[in-house]
Amino acid sequence: MYPISYIEPVFRPPSEWKSLILQVTNGCSWNKCTFCDMYTSDTKKFRPKKREQIEQEIIDVAKSGITTRRVFLADGDAMMLPFNRLKEILTLIKQHLPQVSRVSSYCLPRNLSNKTVEQLVELRTLGLKLMYVGCESGDDQVLSLIEKGETYQSSLLALNKIKQAGMKSSVMILNGLGGPELSRQHAINSAKLMNEAQPDYLSTLVVSFPLGEQRFAQKFDQASLQPFRQLTQQELFKEMETLLSELDLRKTIFRSDHASNYLVLKGILGNDKDALLKQVRLALKQPSEVSLRQEWQRGL
Ligand SMILES: C[S@@+](CC[C@H](N)C(=O)[O-])C[C@H]1O[C@@H](n2cnc3c(N)ncnc32)[C@H](O)[C@@H]1O
Ligand code: SF4
Repeated sequence: MYPISYIEPVFRPPSEWKSLILQVTNGCSWNKCTFCDMYTSDTKKFRPKKREQIEQEIIDVAKSGITTRRVFLADGDAMMLPFNRLKEILTLIKQHLPQVSRVSSYCLPRNLSNKTVEQLVELRTLGLKLMYVGCESGDDQVLSLIEKGETYQSSLLALNKIKQAGMKSSVMILNGLGGPELSRQHAINSAKLMNEAQPDYLSTLVVSFPLGEQRFAQKFDQASLQPFRQLTQQELFKEMETLLSELDLRKTIFRSDHASNYLVLKGILGNDKDALLKQVRLALKQPSEVSLRQEWQRGL
């Protein structure tokens, strides 16, 4: 029997596919972002997992012979746990799974507001080395429309704190979030936020609505904006062209290869900026000349 009992569904960043997923909380403590249906089912009501259960599962993983070197703390924002609880969990991982060299977690900017840089350094020395931060946008109007509960400034503060603590950050930006009307400002301000923060990793996904876009679109109507519609493929490429043109990154691993993207882009920014822009411009001018994911190949 597998040593961990999960409350499904469980989500993790694509790059954590080899990691042991340790579910230390269920769901997301915020759960209000209007584009996100990941933790909205009845089984996913937010709750931290009991300390005794986490400890037992770590011990059972050790006994099972699983020799994972990476652990991902699930679910949606395990970093909402207080410093002492996180320290306890990381200490247990260190004690029972000494081969683990990297622990990571999703992290909302506000999860760090009650943690000092010194505390984060302590967590980092216990193995917590990478934070996945869903900034989604650097534009305050878009952030307010999607009810992220964060701003340009709160996102920047958190990313700076992560850097000061010597941890790495991996940021997600969501293409298409502002619809056609806010597309340009969404791209420009997202690039501005990234330029100020200089994250270690940046990935872009395309917003999609497997359960329908009604909840999301409502906010645009309430704000008297043009009715929301999803960007066309060409509009998405245009938004990507604006984002890439505005990005001024020194050494960030850039990935736009999530299954939601039509065009797969990978590189290191700044070195590969011109080459990536060339690919996007070709997709804009002659889409038949580039390899694009078909609609049926796309997903969340
Ligand atoms: C499982 S969520 C957890 C992220 C974490 N709670 C945060 O907000 O930083 C991971 C990421 O999935 C992406 N995501 C969620 N809903 C999405 C949707 N409808 N379309 C595309 N991407 C989505 C967002 O970028 C989000 O940050
Ligand atoms: S995007 Fe993150 S913070 Fe927002 S509801 Fe989804 S899991 Fe929670």
